[in-house]
This record gives sequence, C-alpha cells and structure tokens, in this order.
Amino acid sequence: MKTVLIDCSPRKRLSASGFIMRLTGLFVLGEKKKEKLRTPADHERILDEISDAETVVFSMPLYVDGVPSHLLPFLKKMEMFCREQNKDINVYVIANNGFIEGKQNEPLMRIMENFCDRSGIKWCGGLGVGGGVMMNVMRILLVVFLGIALLRTILSVINEGLFFPVRPWIVYGKQILEVLALGCGIITFDIWLAVCINRKKEYGKHYTRIMLPSFIFIICADIFFTIISVFQGGIFRGWFSKKKPTQIISPRS
Ligand SMILES: Cc1cc2nc3c(=O)[nH]c(=O)nc-3n(C[C@H](O)[C@H](O)[C@H](O)COP(=O)(O)O)c2cc1C
Repeated sequence: MKTVLIDCSPRKRLSASGFIMRLTGLFVLGEKKKEKLRTPADHERILDEISDAETVVFSMPLYVDGVPSHLLPFLKKMEMFCREQNKDINVYVIANNGFIEGKQNEPLMRIMENFCDRSGIKWCGGLGVGGGVMMNVMRILLVVFLGIALLRTILSVINEGLFFPVRPWIVYGKQILEVLALGCGIITFDIWLAVCINRKKEYGKHYTRIMLPSFIFIICADIFFTIISVFQGGIFRGWFSKKKPTQIISPRS
C-alpha cells in the first residue's frame, strides 16, 4: 500500500501543515512518500508519485475560508489525470487554520469533497485543526526548553563537577508533557486518521483545536506573529521603511 502525503503550504519552512503531515505519517503503515507542493514545478513529480498510490493525504492551510489558490491549478491537473487514468484513490484532507476553531475548515472540506466527486476518486474525510500557529509555538518551546536544560547541565558540570544532573532533565520531561497536553486533541484525532488510512476506511469530518482557552491563544498568537514579523519582515525594513507611492492609473490613460 502506497500513501502519498502532500504538504500544500506555500511556506518553505516551519509550516503547520508540514508538521501535522509528518505527525500523521508517523502512524501510517506501508510505503510512504512525503511531498511538498508550492509551485507548478512540483506538479508533474507529484502526479507521477500518485500514479501508483492507493491513498493521497493533502495537508493544507485554510486561506480565506477555502483552499489556497496555488493549489487550484494542481487540483485541475489531478482531476484530468484521475479521470483519464480511471484512478481508484482514497483521499484524506488535513486542514489547519489561524483562528482557534477547527470548524472554520468546513467550507474547505466541502471544496475537497466536490473535487473528489468530480475526479471520480474516493473522498474519505478530513480533519480540521484550529490554532495552527500554535504548532510552531509548540515546536519553538520544545527547542527553547531543551536549550535551557542543556545550559543548566553545562553550568552544573562547571560549578559542581556533576556530569549528569537529573533535575534539569526531569523539568524538561515535565515541560514536554505540558506541551503535548496542548496538542492532545490534535494527536488523538491524528492517530485516528492514520488508523483509518491504514484500514482504508472512511474517517468522516472531525474538527479539533489546540487545547488553550481562546483569550490565552490570542496573546500567544500576537506574540508569535510580532516576533515573526520582526525577523522576516523586519521592523526597520518593513514597518518604518519609506513606502513607494502606489501608481494610480487613470481610466483615460
Ligand atoms: C492569505 C491568507 C489567508 C488566510 N485565511 C484564513 C482564514 O480565512 N481563516 C483562518 O482561520 N485563517 C486564515 N489564515 C491563517 C492560516 O490558515 C494559518 O496561519 C495556518 O496555520 C497557516 O498554515 P501553514 O503554516 O501550513 O501555511 C490565512 C493566512 C493567509 C496567509
């Protein structure tokens, strides 16, 4: 049994879609092929992989209550490909969105269900995950906590000559459990999805979210996006840079 898992986020790095896709992949049995779909250059390679696959798992972000636009040309090609080849493929979708409620992904699920219907392939259901940005926060927290545990180990070697202090690693273990508790809904629904993929069963539509109260989620998301905008957009390059006036094209010219 071959399963093709496609990360459809346009982000090169740190995409929540890629993270959830890899998490699902851990529990999927048989031959697995992980793909990244960002540009038209990826289309033929992925269609080639799909040609001998039994299952396709799309993992994608929700954009403007729908499927990201860069994915549409690929879906058109895949529709033609599946109809011409009379393909028998099971399709599962994992969608994640910025708002906390996973239910926001419902229109995207319907779009993908219609796509399967038109392509003559089998819609097996999907998982909608709310608070996708927290996937990155969770990953960053795990790395930061690991750094702190390592630092405390080095300090204990220098100060006390103790080569394996247990305390920092017990604290790190507790921190891992706390982070996993935030994602327990996603992990549970993800394992269930993988079980359905392995048994070629229908999954239905399920929605989950990061296990944080909404008011704390908003604060975390604001901090995350501010840090990202500083590093990626740059305060000085982005916020305070001189903007070129937009050219207004007169209707007469
Ligand atoms: C152009 C654009 C449109 C978006 N539209 C929505 C939306 O309609 N609803 C929502 O909850 N999140 C929306 N988001 C947020 C993304 O779904 C969210 O950040 C997601 O976690 C990104 O996943 P990725 O890291 O896999 O790309 C939008 C983001 C972008 C860039």
